[in-house]
Amino acid sequence: MKALVTGGAGFIGSNISMKLLEMGFEVTILDDLSSGYLSNVPERAQFIEGSTVDGETVNEAASGVDYIFHLAASVGNKRSIDDPIYDATINVLGTLNVLEAARKTGVKKLVYSSSAGIFGELKTLPIKEDHPQEPDSPYGVSKLAAEKNCLVYMKLYGVPCVCLRYFNVYGVHQRFDAYGNVIPIFADRILRGIPMTIFGDGEQTRDFVNVADVAQANIRSALSPATGVFNIGSGTRITINSLAGLMEKVSGRSVGVVYGPERPGDVRDSLADAGEAIKGFAYDPLSDIEIGLREYMNWIKSDQITCRRLESDI
Ligand SMILES: NC(=O)c1ccc[n+]([C@@H]2O[C@H](COP(=O)([O-])OP(=O)(O)OC[C@H]3O[C@@H](n4cnc5c(N)ncnc54)[C@H](O)[C@@H]3O)[C@@H](O)[C@H]2O)c1
Repeated sequence: MKALVTGGAGFIGSNISMKLLEMGFEVTILDDLSSGYLSNVPERAQFIEGSTVDGETVNEAASGVDYIFHLAASVGNKRSIDDPIYDATINVLGTLNVLEAARKTGVKKLVYSSSAGIFGELKTLPIKEDHPQEPDSPYGVSKLAAEKNCLVYMKLYGVPCVCLRYFNVYGVHQRFDAYGNVIPIFADRILRGIPMTIFGDGEQTRDFVNVADVAQANIRSALSPATGVFNIGSGTRITINSLAGLMEKVSGRSVGVVYGPERPGDVRDSLADAGEAIKGFAYDPLSDIEIGLREYMNWIKSDQITCRRLESDI
């Protein structure tokens, strides 16, 4: 079986690629290295350096593949507010090129990496797939537009698509420059012996899902008959105060926390209802957050890459 992973040099795509190779797939990675790293690319994968914005390159990369995992994206709310045209070019037009290639190749399944960012302000908990979709950044809009195009290609051309809406993903290969995600920032603080900054009272909750579970969701949904949109979370949520405590515990270093003002627009609580994914393709999030954080801290200590983003950026 052959798979194309767009964005496979990135955090989540590289984890999916490794898992596919372990399972005996032939893997091609298409990545322009704009936020990914060559060192993330597994040795046995074929690597094409190129952009999803270039339709011909996408067609060549997708030729003869059975499955496409489409992760290549301009990621993050802030980045999209700074440059909405770039965001839409990569996330909307890039996805259309991937859909065109999927249609021409006749893939068995296209799995699109969507985001909980499509919901905007969260109104109910836990969040089901039919929660109102009112994104509050160009990134949320572009991820939603790409999802809708997947569904349209399924209707018009019968391209079987699954769109997976991830909540807060963490784990191995997630670096400090990952657009302000809290776990890499806390990890960096702990390694440098600096107190972690918490905005607000720290009692806000998040659904942190391990990248191993996200990789599992991608592969199980690809191999199942399921199509449509699915929320992907861990099945549980923790407070930021508990997260900080757990990260100190697993790293064996106590750096303390300092509290800053609540940030406008930050949601108070977040929790995915992953019931549809459990029913649809036997999604089974296995990771215990303490074990996942321990594994992450061990990995980040050994990571040699100097990240692109400076501390002053966060
Ligand atoms: N990390 C999260 O918590 C999270 C949450 C929700 C959704 N997602 C989605 O998951 C996917 C992967 O995110 P990630 O966290 O691994 O980010 P990442 O930045 O590590 O990975 C994105 C990869 O895509 C590549 N890329 C960007 N533009 C490209 C282009 N035009 N052509 C080819 N390659 C290109 C980058 O070089 C990078 O390797 C994205 O689609 C993102 O929207 C991530």
